[in-house]
Amino acid sequence: MTSRPCRVNTGTFRDPILNPAQQLFTLIVPFSVYEFQLAWLTDPTPMIWLILVIPAAGIVLWAMLYERLNYRLRERSIALPFPGPERLTILHLSDLHLVPRCRRLIAFLRSLRGVEADLVLYTGDFLEDPKDAPLLEEALSGIVGRYGSFAVFGNHDYYRYVWTEVFGKFPHAVNRMQDITEPRETLEKMGIRCLFNRSCIVDCGGYPIRIVGIDDPYLEKDDIERALADVEQDETVIALVHSPGVYRELADRKVALILSGHTHGGQLRLPWLGALVTRSPIPKRMAMGISQIGNTTLFVSPGLGVTPRLPFRFLSPPEASILQVTFQPHTRD
Ligand SMILES: [Fe+2]
Repeated sequence: MTSRPCRVNTGTFRDPILNPAQQLFTLIVPFSVYEFQLAWLTDPTPMIWLILVIPAAGIVLWAMLYERLNYRLRERSIALPFPGPERLTILHLSDLHLVPRCRRLIAFLRSLRGVEADLVLYTGDFLEDPKDAPLLEEALSGIVGRYGSFAVFGNHDYYRYVWTEVFGKFPHAVNRMQDITEPRETLEKMGIRCLFNRSCIVDCGGYPIRIVGIDDPYLEKDDIERALADVEQDETVIALVHSPGVYRELADRKVALILSGHTHGGQLRLPWLGALVTRSPIPKRMAMGISQIGNTTLFVSPGLGVTPRLPFRFLSPPEASILQVTFQPHTRD
């Protein structure tokens, strides 16, 4: 098409070569870009790119600026075929990935102080850097379980990525192990009991529940035999483990409920396909939410935070979970 100067931006002239849609387009485009506009109309390639790029940019903005920060408290129901109290309300928090600049997440966590939970259970990845341990006190103090609060640590508590090495052997060789003493002491000071391959009995209104903490399997710190050593027959066991990859071993050991995180629900999910990456041997369909393995129930939390290297979420919104757990009736000793 031959470009011709004309008064298209005034609306008083219509180029007969253009179809009505193109004529409308010419009316809304300034005269100064007319040449450029005609080039696009005659060669649709840039328009096709725009059609692809604009939605992609929208998804990126949604994932980085909206969904990642759209924290919510979600309630779920779980029925366990094991003895226990009539109902147990668990607040499950996972994968906080706290850093000083995440003020919105800290504000959300502070809003959970009013939640009335029987147990508050944490499944790791509290911090990116242990020197930020004071953030734990700022964010979590006042979140109290009636029968107690318990925690395990995750891979990001134990190491942090070193940027200069990221482009070498991604991802495992780039971590630098770090001392968790300060975060651990901060949590313990707040009454959150940290379980490293050990367990304890909790009296939940007259019903004993065994809480087991498995150290992080992703870093091969798990010792399931040791963690379950004190479990007695017929005890109802709730296991905390950051990475859910050992779910089958725990199901084989008759654990009633496994709470996990680590996967961030895939963090990037596609419609119908679900999670693309989980960094766990768990089947992708089990990367988020409730799954059943025989009598054992597994709940994988999508978590609340993200590592600053990957600041997005798509179709995997951040979540603090209220688990309304019911048990088999008439089983009190
Ligand atoms: Fe995480």
